[in-house]
Amino acid sequence: MHRYPITVLKFGSSVLCCEADLSKAVQEIYRWTRDGHRVVAVVSAIGSTTDSLVARAQTYGSNLSDEAVAMLVATGEATSAALLTLALERAGLHSVVVDEVRLGLRTRGPILNAEPCGIDVPRVLSILENASVAVVPGFVGRQEDGTLSLLGRGGSDLTAVFVAHHLGAERCRLVKDVNGIFEHDPADKVNVPRRYSTVSWAQAVRVGNGVVQPRAIEFAEQHGLTIEVATLNSDSPTLICGLPISFADQFPSATPLRVGLLGAGTVGLGVYRTLAAHPETFDIRRIAVRQLEREDGIPPALLTHDPWEVVSSDCDVIIELIGGLSPARELIEAALKSGKHVITANKLVVSRHGKQLRRIAEFAGVQLLYSAAVGGGVPMLEQVSRIAQSSGIRTLHGVVNGTTNFILDRLAEGLSREDALGEAQRLGFAEQDPTSDLDGSDAAHKLALLAQTAFGAWLNPADIERTGIEHFDSEAVRDAARSGHSVRLVASLSRGEFGLRARIAPQLFAHTHAFAQTINEENCLEIESQSGDVVQVRGKGAGRWPTAVSVMADVCDIYRAQQLGVAEEFLVAGRAS
Ligand code: HSE
Repeated sequence: MHRYPITVLKFGSSVLCCEADLSKAVQEIYRWTRDGHRVVAVVSAIGSTTDSLVARAQTYGSNLSDEAVAMLVATGEATSAALLTLALERAGLHSVVVDEVRLGLRTRGPILNAEPCGIDVPRVLSILENASVAVVPGFVGRQEDGTLSLLGRGGSDLTAVFVAHHLGAERCRLVKDVNGIFEHDPADKVNVPRRYSTVSWAQAVRVGNGVVQPRAIEFAEQHGLTIEVATLNSDSPTLICGLPISFADQFPSATPLRVGLLGAGTVGLGVYRTLAAHPETFDIRRIAVRQLEREDGIPPALLTHDPWEVVSSDCDVIIELIGGLSPARELIEAALKSGKHVITANKLVVSRHGKQLRRIAEFAGVQLLYSAAVGGGVPMLEQVSRIAQSSGIRTLHGVVNGTTNFILDRLAEGLSREDALGEAQRLGFAEQDPTSDLDGSDAAHKLALLAQTAFGAWLNPADIERTGIEHFDSEAVRDAARSGHSVRLVASLSRGEFGLRARIAPQLFAHTHAFAQTINEENCLEIESQSGDVVQVRGKGAGRWPTAVSVMADVCDIYRAQQLGVAEEFLVAGRAS
C-alpha cells in the first residue's frame, strides 16, 4: 500500500493528434491528481510522428542499424514526454520527466521488438513522493548493455501495463479516441456496434481490433491486472479483466455541454482556449467581455458587452470569471435561479454570499462549483473536503496568496515593493485591486472558504484576524533571507474549545520548511486530520493556466454528471415504454 493511490494513464497518438491536444491530457491528469492520486502518464509520439520517423530512417536504404532506428524513432516519445511535462508545469502540476533510464526499464530480446523485464520501483516511488506526476515516454527501454530498445508497435500500452503492475498501481487506464472496445468500428452508424463493459483478456485479444496492443493484454493476463480502456473524461471504461464479456447499455450519443462565459481576461481566455479545443464536448454559446475589439482569436460572433445576455442565453452552465462583488453576485444568482449550473473562481462573492447562493442552487436543482476560488491549480478545497469527510480535520495552515508570495521572493532578491507588485500584475497573479492581496483580505476570503469546507462554518472574512504585508519592511525580508529564512504570509485555522480560530499573518520559516520552499506564485496547504496525519498539497496558486485547469475540472465534473443524467433518463424511459 502506498501513501497515495497511483494511477497510470496512457495517452496514445490517437488522443495526442497534435501538440494542442496536450492540454486535453493535462486536464485528464488533473482530474486524478485533484482526487489525491499520483499519476504516471505514459505517452506515445504525437500524431503520425512514429510513421514519419520510420519513413525517414528508410530513406537511408534497407539494411538499417536497429540501434540507430530505435534511437531515431524514440525521439518521438521523448518529444511528447518533454512537451507534456512543460504543459503540466505551466498548469502548475509538479511534474517530472522519467525517461527509460530514470525509470530503469530494462529489456531483452530484439532491439525493435524488445520485452520489458524490470523497472526501478524504489526510484519511481521516491519521485512520486515529491511530484504529483511522472511523465514516462512509452515504447522505449534499455537493453542490459545500455542500448536503446523499442517495445514493438503499440508498445506504449505495454509500458503502461508493465509499469502499473510493478508499481502496484490502483488503476491502469489506456486513454483512446474511442470510449472502450466495441464489437466493430464504432464509427459505423448503420450497423451500430455494442460496446463491451467487461471482456476477458483472451477475448480482448480476439475481439479488440488492435485497439490495445496484444502483448500488453497478455502481460496483464499473466499478472491478473485489469486494464481500463476509455476516452478522455470518461466514467465508463471497458474493463479488460478476469470477467467474461458483458455489454454496456447503449445510450444516445453524448451531447455537448452548452457553456456561457463571463469574462475573457487572464483566466477567462485560458478557459476559452481549453473549451474551444474540445468542440465535441463543449458548445460555447456566448462570451461577455469588456473589450469587443480583440486579437486573441475568439470569434467576434460569440462576443457581447452585455453579461445579462449570456446569463439568459440557452446554456447549461455559466462560468463567471469577471471577479469583483457586483454585478458578479447578481449574475450568479440569476443564472442559478434560471436553472443553470454556475462555476466561478470568485472567492469574494462565494465567501460573502455562498450560503445564500448555495441555497438558491439547491432549490433550483443545479450546482454551484468554485474549486478555483482557493489555491488556483492546487486542489485545496477538494483535499480538505476529502479529509473532512473521512477522518475529520484538526488544523489547516497554508500559503494561499500567490501574489504576496511572489512579492516576498522578489523583495528577498532586492527588488523594490513597487517593481515586485508591477511584475506580479504583469504576470496576471494580482487581483484587480492588489490591495486585497497585500493586506491579506484575499487570503481571508480563501480561509473562509476553507473553513466552510473543513468545518461547515460560514465565517465572515471581515472578522478574520489579519495582518498583511503592505507595511512590511523590505529590509527585514532581505535580512531574513541572509540568515537562511523566508517570510511567508500564512493563513491558519484550528478548532478549539472556544470555536474556530482563523488568522492571517506573516511568519518566518527556515529555508528547509515546506512553506519557505513554496516559491514565487506557488501555494501550499498543510492539512492535519483528527488522527494526526498531515497531508500537504502544493503547486501554482495563481495565473492563467493553473486557475483555468481548476475551473475546467469543475466544468468536466458537470459534463460527466450531465451524461449520467441523460443515461438515467434514457433507462427510465426505456423501462416505462
Ligand atoms: N490574487 C490571487 C493570488 C489570485 O495572488 O493568489 C489567485 O486567487
